[in-house]
Amino acid sequence: MSRIITTAEVKKHNHKDSVWMIIHNDVYDVTNFLDEHPGGEETLLDSAGKEASQDFEDVGHSEDARELMKKYKIGTLPAEEHNQAPTQPLPAVVTCSNLKWYILALLGAIVIGVVIKKKLAA
Ligand code: HEM
Repeated sequence: MSRIITTAEVKKHNHKDSVWMIIHNDVYDVTNFLDEHPGGEETLLDSAGKEASQDFEDVGHSEDARELMKKYKIGTLPAEEHNQAPTQPLPAVVTCSNLKWYILALLGAIVIGVVIKKKLAA
């Protein structure tokens, strides 16, 4: 069973002798992986003690890397500290009502344009 580890606990492991990081709500101890990391020791040290999901994903790690990381997992964040997924797309209904206002504004502009044109012609 996976151990529950808090963000505060992870933060303490932010130096070369002990490098922990959070990736997708799981906690990894990569201290013994520093020398072997193909992306270099520095990149891992930069993420030491931190939430590193975004950095990890930005690199586009392979399936092999994702398989390998299981070896370094030491625990999971408590549920109340779980990071939410990145911003969800807007619900269709919101987008729809935005579109309605754009159309109304456009129609309003056309009407005003026509009225002004008529006044100028008169
Ligand atoms: C448990 C955590 C991690 C594991 C097991 C891991 C493993 C690996 C592996 C196996 C590679 C070789 C390329 C691949 O197979 O994708 C790699 C490359 C790399 N990793 Fe990680 N990595 C971890 C975390 C991180 C983090 C937090 C960063 C921060 C930015 C990072 C940055 C990089 C970079 C820059 C490369 C080189 C990419 C390239 O040269 O194309 N890695 N990593």
